[in-house]
Amino acid sequence: MAPGTLDNVVYGLFSTHALHLADRHGVLAHLIERGPSSAADTAAALTIDAETLERLLLVLAAVSVVERDADGRYRVAEQTAPFLDSRDPRYLGGFVDHLVTNTTGQLTRLHHYLERGKEAVDAALPSPFETIYRDEEATESFLRAMWQLSFEPSKELAGLAGLDGTRRLVDVGGASGAFAVAALDRYPELHVTVFDLPEVGTHLERTRDARGLGDRLGFAAGDFFRDPLPAADCVSFGYILSDWEDDFCLELLRKAHKACASGGRVLIMERLFDEDGGPLPTAAMNLSMHVETRGRHRTAAEYTALLEEAGFTDCVTRRSSWDKHLVIGSRP
Ligand SMILES: C[S@@+](CC[C@H](N)C(=O)[O-])C[C@H]1O[C@@H](n2cnc3c(N)ncnc32)[C@H](O)[C@@H]1O
Repeated sequence: MAPGTLDNVVYGLFSTHALHLADRHGVLAHLIERGPSSAADTAAALTIDAETLERLLLVLAAVSVVERDADGRYRVAEQTAPFLDSRDPRYLGGFVDHLVTNTTGQLTRLHHYLERGKEAVDAALPSPFETIYRDEEATESFLRAMWQLSFEPSKELAGLAGLDGTRRLVDVGGASGAFAVAALDRYPELHVTVFDLPEVGTHLERTRDARGLGDRLGFAAGDFFRDPLPAADCVSFGYILSDWEDDFCLELLRKAHKACASGGRVLIMERLFDEDGGPLPTAAMNLSMHVETRGRHRTAAEYTALLEEAGFTDCVTRRSSWDKHLVIGSRP
């Protein structure tokens, strides 16, 4: 029998799909709300096939996402429940849906990259965000996944950023406003402009209206490779630089340097590679970046080098308790 770690890799395909399907068909929500329940009772309540559900739940029990008691009843494990409950801000279902419905199909390109290289294989493809925003449904799904991935960590990152005294923050590629909202909630004097592609505008405005943020949250439509960035005391980039090659990142950071007031700062919020090449979520998303974008994940030292090359000084790294961390540069 293969050792446990190898089993996790070989059979991981099944557990990811079992998790995705159990979430998508309301099984996890049902178990979270109703408590322990057999596959047959759950299937009857949700009018889905009991035999298939039992098999899916057995996989999820084997990887400890759910627990199975002696009577064959399943419950969602206490440690995983917050991340699988769509009412909880830590819910990961949207991210898993993005991985399964969007990323998986693209992974086959890795085989061709190995044979011919990414540049040759991707030459005929549209740019990454043309694909991601190909229609309203795909746009909505991507922005929902980004919100779910970023909102909770942003609360901690906003604190780590130390924005007391900052009045104008521009969140470049701020999507539907996860970091903007977290920062506005924490700093009452702050105004945030999200600078993003025009497709994102209505989604950001929806966030602003739902949260009653009025003119404290604005949207500036633009393309950060063509347009200058709006002036600010602080310019933030959350999961932006990991979408692009080093020379594009440098171009963006130089634009941020121009936009940023003297004495201001730039915030880079990203997953970080350890010096030994881990952790797993960063290594996995680094592969995902390879097929979905043109970027990669970096170490804190690599981000610091980019910041310094763009003219920022006094760079510091602040780690959060999440996967997303902060590298800060100051504008002399
Ligand atoms: C990976 S998402 C990051 C979203 C958010 N900052 C976060 O941390 O969750 C990348 C963002 O960059 C935006 N973006 C991509 N290309 C852009 C461009 N050329 N100009 C402006 N924004 C762009 C996308 O619309 C998207 O909102």
